[in-house]
This record gives sequence, C-alpha cells and structure tokens, in this order.
Amino acid sequence: MTETQPRHALVGRNSWKTVRTLLRKIRTKSSSSDRPRSSTIQDVKQDSTTTIDESANVSVAEFTIPNIQKALVVARKGEYEIRHDFPMPTVGDDEIMIRSHYVGLNPIDWKSVDYNFCLPEFPWVTGREMSGTVAQVGSGVKHFKEGDPVWTSTYYKDVRAGCFQEYVVVPSHTVLPIPSTVPFEAAACLGVAALTASMTLWKWLGVPIPWSTTDDAEEQWLLIWGGSTVTGQFATQIANFSGIKVVTVNSSETRSLSECLGATHVVVRDGKTDKQLVEEIRAVTNGRITRAIDLVGPKTAALALDSVSKSDPVAFAPLAMMSSSQIVPDNVAVHTVEMKQFVLDKSNVRFTEELGRLLEDGKIVLPELHMIDGGLHSVQEGLGMLKRGNLRGKKLVVRM
Ligand SMILES: NC(=O)c1ccc[n+]([C@@H]2O[C@H](COP(=O)([O-])OP(=O)(O)OC[C@H]3O[C@@H](n4cnc5c(N)ncnc54)[C@H](OP(=O)(O)O)[C@@H]3O)[C@@H](O)[C@H]2O)c1
Repeated sequence: MTETQPRHALVGRNSWKTVRTLLRKIRTKSSSSDRPRSSTIQDVKQDSTTTIDESANVSVAEFTIPNIQKALVVARKGEYEIRHDFPMPTVGDDEIMIRSHYVGLNPIDWKSVDYNFCLPEFPWVTGREMSGTVAQVGSGVKHFKEGDPVWTSTYYKDVRAGCFQEYVVVPSHTVLPIPSTVPFEAAACLGVAALTASMTLWKWLGVPIPWSTTDDAEEQWLLIWGGSTVTGQFATQIANFSGIKVVTVNSSETRSLSECLGATHVVVRDGKTDKQLVEEIRAVTNGRITRAIDLVGPKTAALALDSVSKSDPVAFAPLAMMSSSQIVPDNVAVHTVEMKQFVLDKSNVRFTEELGRLLEDGKIVLPELHMIDGGLHSVQEGLGMLKRGNLRGKKLVVRM
C-alpha cells in the first residue's frame, strides 16, 4: 500500500514553551464560564489554529443506512483484506450504531494481528476507538438520537464493535458525546489512551479524582516510564490535576513535551545505562515513588520496579506487559489494567464522566494528531508507522 500524505501538514519542531503558556492559560480560563476548546499539541504548534473537519458535519438526511458495508477484515492469520460486502451489524435494544468518521490507531491493533491474539475467529474486524455520528439507536436508548456526534471505546470480542468498518455497533453506555471543546477528529483518540490513562490512575492506582484533592496531601510521586506515549501524555496531566508529582522517562526529543504537559522532572534516557536511569529517578524523588506505570515493555517494567519506594506501599500498572518471571517486591501491588471492564461493567461510566468534564472544561491538552487520508485502505499503512515507532508522541488518526 502506498504512503498517504497527512492532510494536516506536520509542523516542524517548534519551541514547546508555547505549550506550557497555553496550558497555564487553559487552566486559568477554565475556572471562568468561558470554556476554551481543548487544544492539541499540534494546535499549539500552529498557534492555536483549529483542526476541526467540516466534512464530518453531515446531517442525518444526507445518508441512509446501506445493506452492506466496507470493512478491513483480518481474513486469515496475519492477513488483512478489504471487503466491500461485509454484513451490516444489527442493533440490539440497548445498543447504538455509529457511522465512523475517524478511527484512532493503537499498538494493540498491529500486535494482535502479528501475534495472533484477541481474534476469536476469521474473518474478524479489529480497531478499538473511533468518533462518528449516531446512525441508529436501539429501542431502549433515549439519551442519543441519529446524527449526534459521539466517540466510543470498544471490546474486541464483538465483531460488530471492531472499528475498522464503516458502521460500528456498541452498548449504549460506552457511547459518549464529543465534548464541545474537542475537535471531531481528536475525539477518535479518547477511547484508548485517554480512557486507559484515566481508569488506570483513578480506578486501579487510587489517584483521587481532581475535585477531591486536599491541600495537606503529602508529596506523592507517580513514575511514568514512557512519558511521551499518547497514554503517558494523558496520564501526566490527570495526575497533575490531583496534585501528584510526575517523573517521566523520555528520549531527549520528547523531553519538552512531557515538561510542558506538567511533568515535575523528565529523565532523559539517551546515552544512559539502566542503572543510571534508576539512580536518577530515585535521586529526584528521594526514593518516594508510590505509583508507577510502564508504557514500554517488560524490560522497562523491571526498571520501574527498581525505581519505586522500597518501603512504602506501591501501586504499579505494567500497561505494556511484564514478564511472568518478574520478581515483584513485597511492598508493590501489581495491577492488571483490564480496559474491557469499561464495556462489561456499566459502573465504570463514572470515569468517562470525569474525563468528559475535564475535556469539556478545556483542561486537557490533546496529543498532536497525525491525520491519514484514505479510509480503511490506509489503516495498514498507519499501523506500519506505529510499529516502526518513530512518531514521537503523535497520535495516528485515519479519516474514514
Ligand atoms: N489496555 C491497556 O492495557 C493499554 C492501553 C493503552 C496502551 N497500552 C500499551 O501501552 C503502550 C503505549 O501505548 P501508546 O499508544 O500510548 O504508545 P505510543 O504513543 O505509540 O508510544 C510511542 C512513544 O514511546 C516512546 N518510547 C519508546 N521507547 C521508549 C523507552 N525505552 N522509554 C521511554 N519511552 C519510550 C517514544 O518516545 P521517546 O522515544 O521520544 O521517548 C514514542 O513517542 C503500548 O505497549 C500499548 O499496547 C495498553
């Protein structure tokens, strides 16, 4: 498949100082009734130029639901195929059909196909997050109507919920309105990174929700190994809102990104040994890290465990896998983050409500988007870019 040029040209590596200024402005402004639009790093680099895509504002009258649809399917082990006659998903009473406008790409999308997991049968449709418009609601759904702009986060076990198809059907509680401050295309990156960061911190690592922070809280530290990952960008900000200090590990190229998002200290990993990295993290935090997430892999999960407090209780979430033979100190509780709980347990909607509030108030700086045109035909190319791993904190979104 040929490389598609992003419609939004990527801007050069401008000074990230402007991001810090904007973040400050957003936070100050959010206390007033005047709600600013959430910014993407790209917006900031482009001097707050909006990236809202008018083509997504299609009225309901302009389309009818077809009998068949286009889908990118995993046809066989490790092999994708575009199908032009894929069956339309049916809608249950408490479900919503969404017409896809933008799809967010995530590492799990290529990993599950390359390593053949999370694929219950063939053909299967993958893809975990998207934004679009409501195309049809089940008889029991009262809070959405056709044409509403929404985003969702899906569970791989239902083929109707795979986002690499034109129409997606999901349970109604997993459908969220796009905050008025969030551009349509940016809403496609909320379903995985933003939701994972929020639920990991608030549900599994016991970070207090922002509104309940107390001033007398002791200095608390969160370690994020992989500060520039899209998930890490959201996690840095979410921890900050609760008064928690954040130390991240980044390359020198993304150091200023994490600093601008509120990291107290960024450990630049270039040219340093593992031992030096751990020593620097422990020195900066006085060995007092009580929460940690790893967003890179088993090796850095082990280093994260070396970096945390040796005596205080520690909550650790290895989001990018941890070796089954990894020795875990007695004071560390390892939390397995199961994002399927968002779909299976309706009570977790409270986390999307909190996240929605922060977004609506314009308090969260969204990741810079790298837009890819070409719809489903360009997904594989995008996943290849993700796999090569040189995106430096940008989020890949495919325009359908
Ligand atoms: N449900 C879940 O459990 C869940 C949900 C979301 C994500 N995840 C997992 O979390 C990981 C991150 O996902 P994502 O989409 O947020 O990532 P991403 O945005 O694709 O991450 C790319 C970033 O990783 C950084 N990086 C690469 N090697 C690193 C290293 N050794 N140390 C520190 N940073 C490094 C790179 O930045 P620099 O090199 O510039 O630092 C790059 O910007 C993936 O493994 C994903 O599968 C799991």
